[in-house]
Amino acid sequence: MTSTPTADLVIIANRLPVDRTQLPDGTDGWRRSPGGLVTALEPVMRANDGAWIGWPGAADDDLEPFVEDGLQLVPVHLTADEVEEFYEGFSNGTLWPLYHDLVAKPEFHREWWDAYVTVNQRFADKAVEIAAPGATVWVQDYQLQLVPQMLRDQRPDLRIGFYLHIPFPPVELFSQLPWRRQILEGLLGADLIGFQLPGGAGNFVRLVRKRVGHKTHRDTIYLPNGRQVRAAAFPISIDTAGFEELARSEAVEQRAKEIREAVGSPRKIFLGIDRLDYTKGIYARLRAYGELVEEGRLDPADAVFIQVATPSRERVEQYRILRDEIDRLVGHINGDLGRIGVPPISYLHASYPREEMAAFYRAADIMVVTPFRDGMNLVAKEYVACRLEDDGALVLSEFAGAADELRQAWLVNPYDINGMKSALMDAFHADDRDTRRRMRALRKTVVEKDVARWAASFLEAMDEVPDHHDKSVRPTAEGDPGANR
Ligand code: G6P
Repeated sequence: MTSTPTADLVIIANRLPVDRTQLPDGTDGWRRSPGGLVTALEPVMRANDGAWIGWPGAADDDLEPFVEDGLQLVPVHLTADEVEEFYEGFSNGTLWPLYHDLVAKPEFHREWWDAYVTVNQRFADKAVEIAAPGATVWVQDYQLQLVPQMLRDQRPDLRIGFYLHIPFPPVELFSQLPWRRQILEGLLGADLIGFQLPGGAGNFVRLVRKRVGHKTHRDTIYLPNGRQVRAAAFPISIDTAGFEELARSEAVEQRAKEIREAVGSPRKIFLGIDRLDYTKGIYARLRAYGELVEEGRLDPADAVFIQVATPSRERVEQYRILRDEIDRLVGHINGDLGRIGVPPISYLHASYPREEMAAFYRAADIMVVTPFRDGMNLVAKEYVACRLEDDGALVLSEFAGAADELRQAWLVNPYDINGMKSALMDAFHADDRDTRRRMRALRKTVVEKDVARWAASFLEAMDEVPDHHDKSVRPTAEGDPGANR
C-alpha cells in the first residue's frame, strides 16, 4: 500500500492534470494543465475524495503520490522503452491513425502491443491499490482500453466507466487490428462506455456482436454472466463560463488589440489553432488559403491567416514529416506571395496559455477548423464561447465531432480544396446579419452544453446501469456533480 488515502472516485488518464513548470524561485513545481477535463472533474473530485492516476509526461520520472491544489495525484512511472513502445508506438503509431480513419498508415508491432498490455496493467494496479470499496473509477481514452477489464478482474466491487475522447472507427477498419478482440474485451470490463457520437457507440456495439458474439439490444450489451454494459454517446464540451470570463477581461481585450496590430491591422483575420497533427488538416487548409491569395481573390493587405501549431508527439516519425511539410508550404506561400512586412500567413509553432488563446479567439474574424477526422474538436467550441458579441464566423469540417452540434457553422469537406476555398470566401464576404444569426445559435449550444454538464450526465448514467453496486458518486453541495463551476 502507498501512503495515499483511499478514494471514492478515481480518474485514470494517460496524463496527470498538471504540467511541470519552473516556479519563480527557480525550483521545479506543477501547474494545472489548461484542459477542460480537470476543470469539469475538479468539483466532483473534491466532493468524493477523488484521486487522479496518470503519467507525468517524462520517461523514468519516479514520483510518489502528491497533493497539488487539494487534488490527490498518483503518478505512473514509464521507462524510456515504454514511452517509445506504449505511448509513441501502440497508442500513437497504431491506435491513433487507425481510429482516425487511416488518415496515416497504422503500424502493427507485437512488441508495441506487449508494452501496451504491461503499461495498462500498471495503471490498473494503481487504481486497485487506492480505490475505496465500491468506489467509482472512470478510465479515459484510447491509451488505456484494457484497464476496465483488468480492474474488474481484481476488484469486482468497483463501478467502472470508460470514455473515449477520439472517434471509434467503423467495423471494417477496426477489424484490421490483430488484437481487436482483446481491446473489445478490455473495454467490456466497464459498466458504461462513453463515446463522442452515437456513430462511435454504434460501431462498438456492432463489433462486439460480430467479433465477441455477445447479445446486444440497442445500446446495451448482455454478457453471458448476466452483467450488462451500456455504450452511448456523451459529446464532450468546454468550460464555457471560464472562457467567457477570460474573453471579457480587460487584459485579454487589450492583448487581442495588440495581436491585430502586430499582423498589420488587416480587414479580416483568419485563425487556425491545432496540435501539429496530421488529422487536423493544417496542410490542406493553408494550401487552400495560399491559392486564394495566388489567384488574387484575397489580398494580403486585407486578410492574414494566423496559424498556431502546438508542438505534439515530436518523436513520432509521421509528426516530424508533417512539421517539415508545413514549414515548407508556409515558406513557399510567404516567400512567393508576400510583400515586405505583409506575409499572407503568420505561422507560430508554439503552445500558449489559455489567456493568450482567448486573445487569439477575440482577435480573429474567421476561425478555420478543418480536420480530416476529429473526435470532437474543442477549439471550435472555445472560439464560439469567446465571441461575446455574437460576431465572428466558424468554418468547420463536417468530419469533426463538433459539426454534429455546431450546425450553423460554414461546414466544409476538408478533402475538397475548391469547396474549402469557397467556404473561406463565403465566410470572408458574409454579411453581419448572417454571421450574427449563426453565431447566436452556436453560442446558445455551447452555453447550454458545457463540460460540467457532460461530466454530470456521464456520472449519472453510470449510476443507472443495473448492477450489484450500492455506492454512487455523491453530488457536490450544490446538488449536481458539476454544479460548482
Ligand atoms: C488528444 C487525446 C488525449 C491526449 C491529447 C494530447 O486530445 O484524446 O488523450 O492527451 O490528444 O496528446 P498527448 O499525446 O500529448 O497526450
